[in-house]
Amino acid sequence: MEIIVQTKEMQRRAEQRRREGMIIAFVPTMGYLHEGHLSLMREGRKRGDCLVASIFVNPTQFGPAEDYNRYPRDLKQDLKLIQRVGVDICFTPSVAEMYPDGFQTFVEVERVTQSLCGISRPHHFRGVTSVVAKLFNIVKPHLAFFGQKDYQQLIAIKRMVKDLNMDIEVVGMPTIREPDGLAMSSRNAFLNQKKRKEAARLYRSLVKGKELFAQGERSAATILQEVRRIIEEEKSADIDYVKICDAHTLEDIEEIKGEAIIALAVKMGKTRLIDNIILKEE
Ligand code: PAF
Repeated sequence: MEIIVQTKEMQRRAEQRRREGMIIAFVPTMGYLHEGHLSLMREGRKRGDCLVASIFVNPTQFGPAEDYNRYPRDLKQDLKLIQRVGVDICFTPSVAEMYPDGFQTFVEVERVTQSLCGISRPHHFRGVTSVVAKLFNIVKPHLAFFGQKDYQQLIAIKRMVKDLNMDIEVVGMPTIREPDGLAMSSRNAFLNQKKRKEAARLYRSLVKGKELFAQGERSAATILQEVRRIIEEEKSADIDYVKICDAHTLEDIEEIKGEAIIALAVKMGKTRLIDNIILKEE
């Protein structure tokens, strides 16, 4: 596996692979990898000839009071893991390489980033779409893989690719869960044993919501009441939002028609966790 830290070098290598007729599959990450990331890489391995993963904790997607400095990092372990799943190139630039002096250009996707996490993290998605646009220009992928756990991020990136005519297929992949249902996330590492156990109720609440939908309930308020009740049974769970929205526009809906999602963000102690479940007629 090749490790590249410079953008120019990555661009040269990507151009070379393209000239050789290879399909470049790309998995962008912020490191501290878990099975969720590795599942994206396995799919990339199947679908691409050259598999590139990036590891870069992107400062522009963290707010001033957020956990950029605390965000978990373990490059040595990450490199071992990605080598095992067959990554060809790991792109791991420094902050100065990605944001040199004078940097001032951002990509902003408007409407779909305003709801859900966009309310309590107003600059987050601007940071995400900007860094992903930059990574796309550097890695030059044909295919890029993102997890559905970060559903709003996935929708925003799909929108950006469409709106800016980027010639890239964005592939959304299912959320990978722990045996008790907790969605895998690098931030789970912050949970102590007690909070970790309690966090499983987030997925239980979503499953209950989906069961009500399957039984014919279509009122968002009725389903949300039950989802919230399950979360609030745990006194220390601090709900940022629990919402049902249209799966494409991410606008709140009152009555579920077509495809929708139940999405939540909940603080368990100091750790903010997100998760979602898709509701659609079988
Ligand atoms: O999902 C993530 O890990 C990040 O938001 C991403 C897409 C790598 C951009 O920094």
